[in-house]
Amino acid sequence: MRNFIIDTDTASDDAVALVMALRQPDIDVKAITVVAGNVPLDMGLQNALYTVELCGADTPVYAGCAKPLLRELETAQDVHGRDGLGDIGLHLRGRAPADGHAADALRDVIRAHAGDITLVTLGPLTNVALALLREPELARRVSHCWIMGGIGSGHGNVTPTAEFNIWVDPEAAKIVYESGMKMTMVGWDISWKHATFDAEQAAEIRQIGTPLAEFVIDIQATLTEFSMTENALPGFDLPDPITMAAAIDPSIAEYKDYRVDVTTGEGLARGITVVDVLGVSKRAPQMRVATSADRSAFVEMLKASVA
Ligand code: RIB
Ligand code: CA
Repeated sequence: MRNFIIDTDTASDDAVALVMALRQPDIDVKAITVVAGNVPLDMGLQNALYTVELCGADTPVYAGCAKPLLRELETAQDVHGRDGLGDIGLHLRGRAPADGHAADALRDVIRAHAGDITLVTLGPLTNVALALLREPELARRVSHCWIMGGIGSGHGNVTPTAEFNIWVDPEAAKIVYESGMKMTMVGWDISWKHATFDAEQAAEIRQIGTPLAEFVIDIQATLTEFSMTENALPGFDLPDPITMAAAIDPSIAEYKDYRVDVTTGEGLARGITVVDVLGVSKRAPQMRVATSADRSAFVEMLKASVA
């Protein structure tokens, strides 16, 4: 068994990543910590609790930060729906999270499983930054941190230069990127290149016919519309799930080590992940960056998780 802890801003792609981890037989998800991002914190919390229940799991879910470290919260409810799960009428209220703050849960789980804990981040890095600010030593205790965030190469999705998770809380991202953790960044470029689903590809998964198979597709209703009209994609894309797939089986992607810095400016200078491809900064690489991924291997893992 491998120990995972997952930090998420639970919207429609996050939920699929949670299903993949919770249904993976050799992974023990010790905790799920929720951060504000795609949707306000309480909505993300209810979405995570709903997804854990749907998977028949008893993983504790903790509430974390309700806004970025220094900036106002900017959600993506136009992308994933007001409730974050496609506004398809799911009953997303009234479930109780575990007691305690996400930053404490991150600290406690990482301490308890030092050297044998994989951290997967699927949203803005506010909770993780807070945990690291309080106890920098945690960085050495995390076996590997898989970050869905930033851009390995190419264009952004919030501005031409920035990806949502990093853009929402760039100060938090800078703290995490400079923390010394062993980290892999799976940028949004990997998602739009290797994790998009047109209507036919989505139907292929939905017709597996289980409640989970229908759930992971039906909640993409708003994301499908947004992706096709705003992101020039053939259907929805699944950045968090392909990141989770790589965390589960790193062999499905290829990587290069780079120095990657995060900008904390305003406008087009906000939340850029600057990948020093040629090493011109002469600073040692500190980030492993996914450069490609095997879509068919990812789809097979996704299908197996909802079968
Ligand atoms: O830019 C894509 C990322 O932002 C994904 O994690 C999505 O869920 C949103 O959080
Ligand atoms: Ca997310």
